[in-house]
Amino acid sequence: MVSFKELGLKNTRKMFEVSLEKKFAVPGYNINNLEQLQAIIIGCGETDSPVIIQISQGARDYANQTMLRYLGQGGVEMAKELGYNIPIALHLDHGNSFELCKDCIDSGFSSIMFDGSHLEYEKNIEVTKKVVEYAHKNDVSVEAELGVLAGIEEHVKSEVHKYTDPEQVEDFVNRTQCDSLAIAIGTSHGAYKFKVDKQEDIPELRFDILKDVRKRLGKFPIVLHGSSSVLKKYVDVINNYGGNLEKAFGIPEEQLRKATEFGVSKINIDTDGRLVVTAMVRKILAENPKEFDPRKYLGPARDELSEMIKRKNKEVLGSADQAKFI
Ligand code: G3H
Ligand code: 13P
Ligand code: ZN
Repeated sequence: MVSFKELGLKNTRKMFEVSLEKKFAVPGYNINNLEQLQAIIIGCGETDSPVIIQISQGARDYANQTMLRYLGQGGVEMAKELGYNIPIALHLDHGNSFELCKDCIDSGFSSIMFDGSHLEYEKNIEVTKKVVEYAHKNDVSVEAELGVLAGIEEHVKSEVHKYTDPEQVEDFVNRTQCDSLAIAIGTSHGAYKFKVDKQEDIPELRFDILKDVRKRLGKFPIVLHGSSSVLKKYVDVINNYGGNLEKAFGIPEEQLRKATEFGVSKINIDTDGRLVVTAMVRKILAENPKEFDPRKYLGPARDELSEMIKRKNKEVLGSADQAKFI
């Protein structure tokens, strides 16, 4: 049993307290490997932003849970060495069972998500509550979810979309005692979020639901998953260098900014990072066919990713320059 505190990690309590007070969203960036982690530490360190480093089931299968926990710890040490004084949480993304959540808590995660969104309402409450009881004994934060996001990824699959019902949120939060709540207002996972032909046809998120939930929960942290913007700049590079991403559209950044103004406390971004890395690797290898040193293409991909993160923190989430208040 390792406590996250021994690893220098932070839970999300103070991050969300300050985010609610100052109206910005803490970034939840996903990692699967070393370069993504380095980019996040540098991107968030240089913008003085708090950060939640997220580990999905897919990441655990790819990189090994123990390895990822040590990577998280390495991230904390790297930040310290570089003189960045930013709070870092290590978070289980879309945990699907009590056992998995417990396992992560016991191995040093400081925050976990139990995703019971596919369960029937009472069952979602029952398991979330059990997870919260165990997590809180260890001072670990718990994110729960109500409503279902559509979208397809390795372990997060849903063809259907069900908006969060605002009438359920107070009962759910009171009975589970979760620390934050992910809601479904029209975002979805992956690079194909809307069935439209052009950017201008992307519909608005359901801000009416967000406002209603906010009114009912008061100052309580709300989370948005599936919030990549699927930046055209990188989709175009991918397609210009042999890729084939057709009609890939995400959540426009101005809508995410609007969501932070309505008090969303955490915004999850994975796909945008994947697109940056793929764009850079495709471009560099296409332009340098003799190259075979992974550092020569992963290094620039990492640097571009940290630039994207800095820009997101400053211009979209508003999390830049907020670490000092946490
Ligand atoms: O929300 C899901 C994350 O983007 C992780 O996706 O299961 O493919 O690692 P993954
Ligand atoms: P995106 O696929 O939009 O990046 O969403 C990531 C996410 O919600 C991770 O939990
Ligand atoms: Zn998600």
